Amino acid sequence: MGGLIATLTTIVTVGCDAPTRQLAPLETGDRGMVVSADPLASEAGVEMLRKGGNAIDAAVATTFAISVVEPFSAGIGGGGFLLAGFPDPAREDYQIQALDFRERAPKAASRDMYLDENGEVIERASLDGHLAAGVPGTVAGLFTVHKYYGQLPWETVVAPAIQLAETGFPVSEYFVRSLERRRDVITANPAARAIFTRDGQMYEPGEILIQADLADTLKTIAADPRSFYTGEIATAIAADMAENGGLITLADLEAYTPIWRNPLCGNFRQFQICAMPPPSSGGVHLLQILNLIEPYDLKSWGRQDPDTLHLLAESMRIAYADRAEYLGDPDFVAVPVRSLVSGGYADIRRSQIDRERATPSDEIPPAARDILNRHIWESPETSHLTVVDGDRNVVSLTFTVNGGFGAGVVAAGTGILLNNEMDDFSVAPGVPNLYGLVGGEANAIAPRKTPLSSMTPAIVTEGDRLIMAAGSPGGSTIITTVLQTVLNVLEFDMTVAEAVSEPRIHHQWLPDRLLVDSTTPPATVEALRRRGHEIVKRDGWGNVNAIVVTPDGQLQGAADPRRDGAAVGF
Ligand code: GLY
Repeated sequence: MGGLIATLTTIVTVGCDAPTRQLAPLETGDRGMVVSADPLASEAGVEMLRKGGNAIDAAVATTFAISVVEPFSAGIGGGGFLLAGFPDPAREDYQIQALDFRERAPKAASRDMYLDENGEVIERASLDGHLAAGVPGTVAGLFTVHKYYGQLPWETVVAPAIQLAETGFPVSEYFVRSLERRRDVITANPAARAIFTRDGQMYEPGEILIQADLADTLKTIAADPRSFYTGEIATAIAADMAENGGLITLADLEAYTPIWRNPLCGNFRQFQICAMPPPSSGGVHLLQILNLIEPYDLKSWGRQDPDTLHLLAESMRIAYADRAEYLGDPDFVAVPVRSLVSGGYADIRRSQIDRERATPSDEIPPAARDILNRHIWESPETSHLTVVDGDRNVVSLTFTVNGGFGAGVVAAGTGILLNNEMDDFSVAPGVPNLYGLVGGEANAIAPRKTPLSSMTPAIVTEGDRLIMAAGSPGGSTIITTVLQTVLNVLEFDMTVAEAVSEPRIHHQWLPDRLLVDSTTPPATVEALRRRGHEIVKRDGWGNVNAIVVTPDGQLQGAADPRRDGAAVGF
């Protein structure tokens, strides 16, 4: 089986001392805070706050800036999800809005488009090249949210990204490593090769990357964002697609619309947790796992205690089994969201957990539909950034081009690196995607359908008090990474710096293996192995960017020490 776990490169021998974990620096602020995957992008956001903009302005500027400095993870050639929260003291509540600006399948997409005449999956067809791309949503999403809630002029929030593209920035070691991994596909596409290599030679860390075409494209977007969908940028993308066997047409771009969705909220202890509903699986399974573990006093057990980790792993296994069967685009298939996040359903599933032994995944099938029906709820490579402003408005935004450098192709003349989000569909039942996730009918390809996501931007509140906001990249591991970050703060009373730094685990049902952070204490790893878990140790994954509001109202932010991000407060 391919996917995330099969492609691990860093396996640490069990029995050795665990490598020492790094602790993120803790940044504080009162008037605002931006935490993103890149210091230049966080600065771009804070610049908006300093100019009198709000969290939306800062988030839009940061997102555009990430599109320039982190093209390997997310960009205007991809899509994402935004959760925004606004305090409502009159109702002692937070108003949470959710915007889906994820890629959609082109109209000409079809269920078997990645299968050959024998019904076999054509290797890498959903991952490399123009056919892998879905219709991008980032520009429409940012423009939509800014139109509703932004305060600064649109050109102002796009400006920092234009400057970064025009004058360049030093590429990081991570950037170069990511480029190396995608060298073949990038050098095969003339437009990508011209931008991301020096005539075929890889950049060295610290060298300046200038993206002149992208700067021009961003200037056009600053003048008129609709040009991405109906104007000169759209024409260039459609022409490049037609020339290279891609499916995205001008009509697909014209038809693109972001969708406001009802955020999916539930309770854990006294807190309200809100996250994205389908077509993300993030919210459903974050709440489902929280329901499964809620009766237990994990704090008294300890964060890295084998009992805690075993319970988390078994709960994750159940959630991902249901994900494979039931989750898909709710505009195309009926997703039993309310049942999956209901307390009654959690009670049934909890009773299937053996607290002493790992239950093999083939003994944990997805729930039978009739069980779900009996429990209708009585009364519902990627980049993440988190922003809070002086009024405690909050944005939690995750966006992506999917795999490293997306499809590895740039629409000629635009500088726009295109996503390979089509791989997030099930290309065939039971065939794992890039992250080893399997799916079925609910996530089959259909024209204009949205591929299922794991992106989990989350906001935690208590009444009209903001507690925290967080998110992470990491494909299939996003949900469990956000889950543990939230638990680290809510259940284990960690600071935000400790919460993003703490070792994590991940189980996704199939493959039936438990990923453990290489910094997990060896005795804990051995105890989990004795319970029957097949352990894969790995250098940390995910890249959480989180902000916590302390009881006295101070903002504390931290970027995951596993990567290059930065929290900037003021
Ligand atoms: N492309 C990763 C996700 O959306 O989950």
